[in-house]
Amino acid sequence: MREFDEKSITQAVIERLAACQDPRFARVMTSLVTHLHDFVREVNLTESEWFTAIQFLTEVGQACTDKRQEFILLSDTLGVSVLVITLNHPAHSGSVESTVQGPFYWEGAPELPRGSNLAEGVKGEPAFYSGRVLSTDGRPLPNALLDIWSGDGEGNYDMQIPGETGMKARGRIRTDSEGCYWFRSIRPTFYPVPTDGPVGQMLRKMARHPYRPGHVHMIVSAPGHLSATTHLFVAGSQYLDSDAVFGMKESLVAEFKRHPPGPGPDGEPLDTPFYTVSYDFRLRPAGAAAPDKREQGAGS
Ligand code: BEZ
Ligand code: FE
Repeated sequence: MREFDEKSITQAVIERLAACQDPRFARVMTSLVTHLHDFVREVNLTESEWFTAIQFLTEVGQACTDKRQEFILLSDTLGVSVLVITLNHPAHSGSVESTVQGPFYWEGAPELPRGSNLAEGVKGEPAFYSGRVLSTDGRPLPNALLDIWSGDGEGNYDMQIPGETGMKARGRIRTDSEGCYWFRSIRPTFYPVPTDGPVGQMLRKMARHPYRPGHVHMIVSAPGHLSATTHLFVAGSQYLDSDAVFGMKESLVAEFKRHPPGPGPDGEPLDTPFYTVSYDFRLRPAGAAAPDKREQGAGS
């Protein structure tokens, strides 16, 4: 048959994969075509709507540079990034939960001694972070690395501050022989994802706000263990219930305890109020079998 109607077209496209040598690719493309065609039929897509969609995707591509990835932002704001992360790092794995990396990671932050202030000259209320990195069996992990980054207390990352060329509120800290880490930074606040491109237009058209709740990013790694790209969220922060990129996980919400001016945990006096926060990160051994979902009551 050479001609197809609005139903038979789907099977016809799938059959063109018959010679594909990569079974996984063939499976993914078969499913993609099936869902895409079903979507077009379900909403009875008009030609003008399809053209608008193509124009939008073209603009998303055109907005990408070596410093900006609008496609990832699209994936983030449509919940696809966190869906892929959650499927691949299930909550019941015993590891700290993973969440989105976001666009503001800057590779090569300086490795600093434990106790360093990562936020020298950064706007925001001081916060002292501490805790341990452990294996899933509870064994402390010495020499684990926390690669940390956050915006400032006004919601801006160093990369977004006009005239700022250096790294701010970033650093890498290693755990000691007991798996303990501690450092000083600021208590981050909520901020919007970039809205000056096509994804921003999409959010406005959807009548959605662009904000993420206050959080610190970390990539936690340790020898012989799977690393985790995660956040600590500030308990009580605005937008915890409506994170624009759906990255919020309850298990990552940490209490930032407020203290009056006075000596900080390192003994140095502070003339402003400050916060302390404590959080232990667990990592899964690299060779460990993935936990069986059925054992965890997560369905089959
Ligand atoms: C962030 O947390 O930095 C972020 C994550 C996803 C999209 C935009 C920003
Ligand atoms: Fe962020």
